[in-house]
Amino acid sequence: MSIVWVDDLAGIDWNELSELYRIAPLGNKNPADLALVFGNSMFRVFANEDGRIVGAGRVLADGRDCAYLCDVAVHPDRQGRGLGRDIIERLLVHCRGHRKIILYAVPGKEGFYERLGFRRMTTAMAIFEDQAGAYGRGYLTAP
Ligand SMILES: CC(C)(COP(=O)(O)OP(=O)(O)OC[C@H]1O[C@@H](n2cnc3c(N)ncnc32)[C@H](O)[C@@H]1OP(=O)(O)O)[C@@H](O)C(=O)NCCC(=O)NCCS
Repeated sequence: MSIVWVDDLAGIDWNELSELYRIAPLGNKNPADLALVFGNSMFRVFANEDGRIVGAGRVLADGRDCAYLCDVAVHPDRQGRGLGRDIIERLLVHCRGHRKIILYAVPGKEGFYERLGFRRMTTAMAIFEDQAGAYGRGYLTAP
């Protein structure tokens, strides 16, 4: 099967994308919220195969300085076959010219990003809406 790459939001089924994130798994993401955040992202890629979305990712960017990769996921049927790498490489092409490209990995996925050239930051910090949950899921370390 060949992958068809899309970045136009017009034909995206947000319910289908929400389901992709649920089963990937990358959490429960409301379809309307996905339409909002992808619409507000400077770059995005969707990988389609046989008429269904099998991978996606997006970048919040300012056009020169900072680019933030998020919501990268591959359908479980398609994981482990290079599609995640292809998504990141396509997003990185879009990010050319930015001085820094930043992300935070789901715990356990750091190696995936290290293979693609990302290195650990020593001073990255965050405020999460659900700060207690972020501690619980391993995104934050105690002060
Ligand atoms: C993480 C994810 C996007 C990777 O996509 P994928 O298509 O399965 O990965 P690929 O097949 O492209 O892997 C590329 C390389 O990374 C490696 N890799 C993949 N997952 C890895 C992991 N968890 N740890 C270390 N290396 C990993 C692969 O072995 C491969 O190595 P190679 O280049 O030496 O062959 C996918 O597993 C996924 O959607 N997971 C659930 C959602 C998620 O966690 N998203 C990431 C949010 S930070």
